[in-house]
Amino acid sequence: MIYLDSAATTFQKPQAVRAAMLRAMQTMSSPGRGGYASARAAEELLFRARSLAAETFGAPSPEQVVFTTSATHGLNIAIKSLVPAGGRAVVSGWEHNAVTRPLRALEADIAVARSPLFDTEACVAAFRRALKRGADAAVCTTASNVFGYILPIGEIAALCRKAGVPLIVDASQTAGVLPLDMASLDAAFVAMPGHKGLYGPQGTGLLLCGAEAKPLIEGGTGSASLSQEMPEFLPDRLEAGTHNMPGIAGLEAGMRFVRAKTPERIARHEQRLVCRAANGLRRFGGVTVYAAEDMSAHLGVLSFTAEGREPEEVAEALASHGVAVRAGLHCAPCAHKSAGTLEQGTVRLSVSAFNTEADIDGFLRAMRGILSK
Ligand code: ALA
Repeated sequence: MIYLDSAATTFQKPQAVRAAMLRAMQTMSSPGRGGYASARAAEELLFRARSLAAETFGAPSPEQVVFTTSATHGLNIAIKSLVPAGGRAVVSGWEHNAVTRPLRALEADIAVARSPLFDTEACVAAFRRALKRGADAAVCTTASNVFGYILPIGEIAALCRKAGVPLIVDASQTAGVLPLDMASLDAAFVAMPGHKGLYGPQGTGLLLCGAEAKPLIEGGTGSASLSQEMPEFLPDRLEAGTHNMPGIAGLEAGMRFVRAKTPERIARHEQRLVCRAANGLRRFGGVTVYAAEDMSAHLGVLSFTAEGREPEEVAEALASHGVAVRAGLHCAPCAHKSAGTLEQGTVRLSVSAFNTEADIDGFLRAMRGILSK
């Protein structure tokens, strides 16, 4: 199979990730619940993984790194900590349902700072306008999961700071690929999944906390057990229940893999591959490629449509050629509305450090075959 759906999950994982998960199952029990060797090994891993994440993403301390089950989980905590029921939030025009659905559940007044695809200046101007009325929080993705468009998060963060609006950063598509420094963004929260660019397993994620957080669930933490309230301190306040030790072990190994390879090299590799895909697709008649000529604001994610064919039909045909892509709305109707693709959706291919030029050429061969029928 040629796997080109890494914006959903990086499916090929480093061998070290699998080994770390197995080791955790063999050697670790419940962290913070005992002084015996397997409990201590679990506790030590949690600290190592938190410290590594804090250092990698510029979080103020390891304690401010919270393990979650996904970016969605982290975004729910962040949004529900800052936005009261009926409150106001400013979001970019490229947000995922992981942002818009929690806001809708809060019946928030959602101001969408909408701007055209790949127009960075317009994106900043739209935020500037939307922030004029103030807000309980702004939420912004670092890159569109549908179009691979990299948003000007530094400029947006500066506008939020000036307006006194706390910023929640959704780093789902760029963690492990683009540099991210929570301190210089002065973000209230940063959420990311473990299973995409950090090469951890599904069911893992990180929430970096720079503001007061409300627990989404309550339960045992192995600390302050006499109290019937959740502890006031992080990370315990947000981590009820026994941790996913094999998952976190895999995530830690994934982060080490990324640091060794370096995000810069991974990003360059991925950008080269999507440029190759975009150039190849542009040579086919009747194909619309959603990419600027200069692809500098583009990650390893590329959307396209083929005239007269439903995206799902194209994805199914690709699957029958052994190529895995995603089609439709990609859980991001907000982004499709901004790009004018809401009615039909797109076909999306997305790459990881494990893809090669031969994968892209195989995909293009399959597309040629499909379009010729
Ligand atoms: N958010 C993930 C995607 O874009 C699942 O496919």
